[in-house]
Amino acid sequence: MQCIVLASPDDLSAEAARLIAEEIATHDQILLGLAGGSTPRMTYTKLADDSIDWTGVTTWMTDERWVPRDDPDSNQAMVRTALGTDGRIRFLAPNTRLKSPLAAASRMTRAMRCLMDRRPNRRVTTLGLGNNGHTASLFPGTEALTETDAAFLANWVPQLDAWRLTASFALLAESDVVFFLVAGESKAEMVARIAAGEDHPASRVTAKERVLWILDEPAASLL
Ligand code: 6PG
Repeated sequence: MQCIVLASPDDLSAEAARLIAEEIATHDQILLGLAGGSTPRMTYTKLADDSIDWTGVTTWMTDERWVPRDDPDSNQAMVRTALGTDGRIRFLAPNTRLKSPLAAASRMTRAMRCLMDRRPNRRVTTLGLGNNGHTASLFPGTEALTETDAAFLANWVPQLDAWRLTASFALLAESDVVFFLVAGESKAEMVARIAAGEDHPASRVTAKERVLWILDEPAASLL
């Protein structure tokens, strides 16, 4: 497990923003997958404040809750607010106004396949980690873990009694680089278990070049 450890969530966000900005600055065309949840918010805010040229960047939501796009739980609402995508940055997210999660997932699959077919595209993806080892909305024991073809999936999560929309392992594996952004003591045990080689959804994520875990000290405290 390749990881870097930063002193605080703010330092983690600054380093993640620096690494992402470096990728954008060194590639003409880039597909940037954005993690949901709360950890990446500060990274997106720092990216928004940077003088980045977003012309060649297309961002996409790696997972979404099945809620209205303006719902407080919506990942795309968090991205729109923190990164300020509207009108400035191309941002592709599941359409949760469609008639069903399945319809939204198949539309997102088609859109991602179309994006992925364009060359050259540098593909950088950010992800988070749940205490139970989930990443994106690939939760332990759910059907999405066994899907091998589709790019984007509707995933019923019994633990949440809710539908989620998520990138599949197959789509994530098309990334050149994956950055896991993980902060807080509550994640330390799962980080250590993944580092020890245990099988969890997050540990199944692969990338063509590297998977880098960007941790703060509390999250790395059991390594
Ligand atoms: C989501 C996320 C999920 C998240 C982890 C960590 O929709 O919740 O995509 O995979 O990254 O649950 O969430 P925090 O960053 O809030 O701890």
